[in-house]
Amino acid sequence: MNSSGIILTGDRPTGPLHIGHYVGSLKKRVELQYKYTQYILIADMQALTDNAGNPKKVHDNVLEVALDYLAVGLDPTRNVIFIQSLVPELAELTMYYLNLVTLARLQRNPTVKDEMKLKGFGANVPAGFLTYPVSQAADITAFRAKYVPVGADQLPMLEQTNEIVDKFNSLYQREVLTRCEPLLSEVVRLPGIDGQGKMGKSTNNAIYLKDDEKTLAAKVRMMYTDPLHIQVSDPGNIQGNTVFDYLDAFDPDKAGLAELKAHYKRGGLGDVKVKDRLLSLLNSELTPIRKKRTEFEKDPAEVINMLRRGSEKARETAASVLADVRSALLMSY
Ligand code: TRP
Repeated sequence: MNSSGIILTGDRPTGPLHIGHYVGSLKKRVELQYKYTQYILIADMQALTDNAGNPKKVHDNVLEVALDYLAVGLDPTRNVIFIQSLVPELAELTMYYLNLVTLARLQRNPTVKDEMKLKGFGANVPAGFLTYPVSQAADITAFRAKYVPVGADQLPMLEQTNEIVDKFNSLYQREVLTRCEPLLSEVVRLPGIDGQGKMGKSTNNAIYLKDDEKTLAAKVRMMYTDPLHIQVSDPGNIQGNTVFDYLDAFDPDKAGLAELKAHYKRGGLGDVKVKDRLLSLLNSELTPIRKKRTEFEKDPAEVINMLRRGSEKARETAASVLADVRSALLMSY
């Protein structure tokens, strides 16, 4: 690890990770692990904020997510990979930060607003869900993270985190907490294989890193293309054509891809051919990941141990920040 800055990032364990996560964030994390001290949290407490009735789902997916991390090459000796609930300091910090945030401000958070609408919570939103940006502020500040790699939808979370930091530091008149900034990467957002919005578990339109070769082939075969491209000779549409969206993300041969697109638009190029090309590219990227995952799957207890060790390490840092916070709050008895 080195000192060019601390990064905090993480995922809710609500399902195995898919190739959208892979191109959108996991690949980047693998690069970042050589340059930064990276804390990677599996946000099981945050996952419970909208899965209170289904703790088993959250529990089981902690291992799935950890396996995906290891499979893509995140190295537990280079990163601190940990489980949120094994670092209770985060919950305590959240409790103090909640006093610095108004209900109105929480209700204005655009990301939470969108998610609430999507989940149909209305007035019956769990208080834990509405306040999860505050717990996320605890996640970030507990490690004095300077950078948080995020997509645009997470920017409101960082804004809210910095508001809490500023409020805390100004109320208690010292620089206890550290401000953070987003590490925005060119966001590659893959649609689902049905072409309908984001890839996701609930929508059943994701390609998972753990999908075996047969499943992957079946999913690629089912992928949404241009519904008006019926005969091979028909001119086809690239726009909104999921197969080409994926090729944009996975085909390193940009010139060849441009040619393929031109051919498709002209007509004379069948979907099957294009899909075969995508499938072979996906396989060359995913086969080593799949292999590695299978290896780690043989010893789940060791994976959990790795998470325990990471969580111990995370606790040390979080405890020192918490001590500063408690001291600023005159809670040193
Ligand atoms: N909200 C993130 C997700 O849905 C997970 C997360 C929890 C997180 N705490 C965080 C991300 C802090 C970045 C920073 O996957």
